[in-house]
Formats: sequence, C-alpha cells, structure tokens
Amino acid sequence: MEKISVTGGKRLHGSITVGGMKNAALPILLGTILVGDKCVIENLPEISDIKAALDILSALGAKVKMIDRTTVEIDTAGVRPGTTPYELARSMRASYYVVGAELGRFGTSRAACPGGCDFGVRPIDQHIKGFEALGAKVEVVDGCINCVAPEGLTGSSIYMDIVSVGATINIMLAAVMAKGMTVIDNAAKEPHIVDVANFLNTCGADISGAGTDVIKIRGVEELHGVTYAIIPDMIEAGTFMMAAAATGSDLVIENVIPKHLESITAKLEEMGVEIEDYGDAVRVKAVTEPLRRINVKTMPYPGYPTDMNPQICVLLCLAQGTSILTEGVWDTRFKYVEELTRMGAVITVDGRKAVIEGGKPLKPAAVKCSDLRAGAAMVIAALATEGETVIDNIYHIERGYEHLVEKLRGVGADIKKIYVPEGSNTQRVI
Ligand code: UD1
Repeated sequence: MEKISVTGGKRLHGSITVGGMKNAALPILLGTILVGDKCVIENLPEISDIKAALDILSALGAKVKMIDRTTVEIDTAGVRPGTTPYELARSMRASYYVVGAELGRFGTSRAACPGGCDFGVRPIDQHIKGFEALGAKVEVVDGCINCVAPEGLTGSSIYMDIVSVGATINIMLAAVMAKGMTVIDNAAKEPHIVDVANFLNTCGADISGAGTDVIKIRGVEELHGVTYAIIPDMIEAGTFMMAAAATGSDLVIENVIPKHLESITAKLEEMGVEIEDYGDAVRVKAVTEPLRRINVKTMPYPGYPTDMNPQICVLLCLAQGTSILTEGVWDTRFKYVEELTRMGAVITVDGRKAVIEGGKPLKPAAVKCSDLRAGAAMVIAALATEGETVIDNIYHIERGYEHLVEKLRGVGADIKKIYVPEGSNTQRVI
C-alpha cells in the first residue's frame, strides 16, 4: 500500500508552481471528440484523471500521442461513439463529458453513468434535461446513459434549475454543432467554463457569454483542430495558499490567475494572512498567530469554492475561537471531519454545517483520504502538526494533484511517499 508520511511543524519557503486545471483539462480533452481533427493540448496536469481521460479517448478510437509530460496530440477523426469501456467511465466523474461531445458530433452516445468522489447523491438530471431540450431521446438503463437524436440536434433555450458546472459544460459541448441558437440560462460561471468555451471557439465554435449566467451558442457546421493551453488550476493554487497559512509560512505560488483566487484570498485575509498579487503569482505570508476565526460558506463561482471546503476547515481548526463552515453545494462533503477528529480537532457536523472549535493543538495520527480535496486537507493538517502523520488512500490525491509530494518537498516540507506491504510494519520510501 502506498501512503504519504509527513513530519510537520516546519515552515515552508521559496516558490511552488501550479499546473493546469484538472476541471478544465478533462472537458477540453473529451471535447476534442467533437473536433474530428488533430488538436494539441498543452499545460495538462500530470494526474491520474488525465490518464483516464486519455485512455477513454484511445478506447474510442482516437490517436493519442504524448509530446512531452504536459502536452498531448489527439486526433479524433477515427472515434467510434458509444464505445467507452464501462470501468473507465465509472472511474471518474468527468466521463459524462463523452456523452455531450459524442451527441454533438454523431447524434448518438452510450456510456456508463459516471463515478468520482462520493459527496452523496450526484444527479445528472440537468445534463439530461439539456440534451432532451436539444432534441435527443435519453434513457438511463442498467447504469448506462443512452442518447440518440436521429434528426440531429436543434438549438433551444434551456433554463438550469441548479447552477451546475458539469451540466453547463455538457450542454455547451452538445450544442456547438446543433442547428440554430442555444441559450443556457442560469449557467455556472466557473473559470473552467470560460476555458472550455475559449477552446471550442478557437476550434471554430460560436459561443458567447461564458463566465456570465447566460451562455449563447450559435451552432456551426464543423470544427477544426487547434493548439490550446489549459489555464492554471485555482484549486491547486488555493491548496498551496492554505498550506502556507497553516504552517505560518511565506510562500510564492507561481503560474496563477489571481482573479480566480479572489474568494480564497478574501477569506485568508479575513483570517489575518497577507496576500500580495504579483500578476501571475501570489505571495502568501502568514503574519497573524494564531489565525483569526471566520465563517465560510461554499457556493458556485465567484463564491468560495466547494473544492476548497476541507482545506479551509484545517485552518479553522488552527484558528482561535469557534468558526462555522457551511457547505452550499454538496450534501455530504464532511466525511473528512472524522479523520481531522483523529488528529484532535473538535468539530461538530449537523447536515451541511460544521461548527469548528479552533485553537486545540493537532496531534499526529494515522489518517486516510476520503476523497480528492479531503486528501489535500489531510496533507495540510499534517504539515501543520509536530510529529509524523501517515496518510492512507492517497490514490484520491493522485487523481487531482500533480507531484504533490515533490512540490511540497521543494519548499522545505518533510514529506515522502512510502510503500507499506499489507499487514506489515516495515516501510520503504518510493
Ligand atoms: C464539478 C467538479 C467538482 C466540483 C463541482 C462544484 C468536475 C469533474 N467536478 O462537479 O470537483 O466539486 O463541480 O464546483 O469538474 N446537480 C443536480 N443535477 C445535475 C447536476 C448537478 O442537481 O444534473 C447538483 C449537484 O447535486 C450539486 C450541484 O448541482 O449539488 C453542483 O454540481 P455540479 O456543479 O454539476 O458539479 P460537477 O460538475 O459534478
């Protein structure tokens, strides 16, 4: 079993570089299905979810060639729709973008319902509502989504009942080559939605309004291949900002778009952390000891992101006084609390609300990652705790954080990946 061992209590220093955004890269990679031509995608994060997306593309008949560690060339001319292997679709949430892209290009799609982190019920009704509004017949049978639009897709007005990142992107993918105009009302506004729209527009699509809550897509006849670079990952950047704040450090985080970090910056400043904007980097300086208590509520962008819920919870454990953290997007995002409790945190969860009694010193423990961002929170908690914390189930972290151990070691953290044979007390550094 692979685990991460962290001997915490040390300050971080220097600079750390953020990779490409996972949640933009996945729909852009799968969006190349629409193009039917050669695309070169740059600034991909080196994570296992990207590998899974490339495996899906290969299984569908695309030609996939890595040019270097973060650049891939994909030719989707030979894609056969409806052939995503069941296990690959189940391995991650973003596999549902295959459906929007296949439907958009071929008027037909079939894929297993997606997997991903367990935050409770993760419905796809808004995706289906959008596909149906465009003229597709959609059935969910035996865990598979089957879509067919024998007459092709026709643009339509779609009002989203819930602000959904996945549904907004999926409908955008399906509508790019539909006949006429599609209007998505109450669309999600996340930076990765803008990145997907920019990619598609570079390929010849006609999308306007991405980044606002009304997106207009005028259908085009066809797309063409392009070279496109993914934006930096705001959640990875935010995670490093929290790691700096938790360890009383002074850290420069490079390759970021500070505008995307505004809600995270605002909350850190409220807690007494100084943030300097260097244009394409931020300097995070923890000047207040202990951190100040605050209340936080997660929301769709531009609100404070749900994918930064577990990380700020660690800071609230370290802050003096009682804080309230409210989850505004998912039903079950507090599974990680049990693990922080093992480290001595005092947190009471009631539904979507956690009350955190801060200022109780954290102590090392054996903990596990309950999902991707929860895994990042375990690392932050361990960095802030004197002594050795061992973190299990690190495959969650590897789905979404590239070279986390190496990057943190580069700024002075005592962190390593270890291999512990099942049922054994021995360990080997890997
Ligand atoms: C994406 C991210 C995920 C992040 C989330 C919110 C990917 C692969 N995942 O997930 O990391 O936590 O955005 O920023 O990019 N909902 C419905 N019906 C639907 C779709 C969603 O009711 O058809 C609800 C969900 O239950 C949830 C809310 O809408 O309460 C937001 O979900 P959504 O934005 O769709 O999240 P994902 O795109 O799945």
